[in-house]
Amino acid sequence: MDYTILPNGDGLPDGSGTAKKGAAVYQQHCIACHGEGGAGSVNDALVGGHGSLATGQPKKTVGSYWPYATTVFDYVRRAMPLQAPGSLSSDEIYSVTAYILFLNDIVLESDELNAETLPRVEMPNRDGFVWDYSP
Ligand code: HEC
Repeated sequence: MDYTILPNGDGLPDGSGTAKKGAAVYQQHCIACHGEGGAGSVNDALVGGHGSLATGQPKKTVGSYWPYATTVFDYVRRAMPLQAPGSLSSDEIYSVTAYILFLNDIVLESDELNAETLPRVEMPNRDGFVWDYSP
């Protein structure tokens, strides 16, 4: 629970990063599995699929599907890179998160993401989920 980051940013650590710095992190730690520019390779595409969800061939990626930007930070910190989760610093995770969001046209290359700004990023599919905790 202490390690969980909520949609409103609760739990985000200190630190910051930009897509510009994240490109280098991605080249070193992610590209082998997720491909050039997040297009996908041996593992999931992280980019693209915008506008495809309601079509016959939905393409679910971080950019098209995920409702909260803060989840990208939480997920990468928990689970990526696959062979060495937990090995990246907070600055590196903010940066590579920014890079994935930049590749999806959600933030600008120079936007600085940190505990204040990341929760304010609006994901394209933020309203695409229904709350289903009915009694
Ligand atoms: C050795 C291969 C490998 C490397 C390196 C790797 N990943 Fe992954 N990644 C995976 C696999 C496999 C999955 C799917 C895991 C699952 O579904 O349980 C995944 C899933 C993801 C997802 C979720 C995608 C989705 O839509 O569900 C994100 C985001 C992600 N990786 C980001 C990264 C980042 C950022 C890095 C670099 C810091 C990275 N990965 C490095 C193999 C890798």
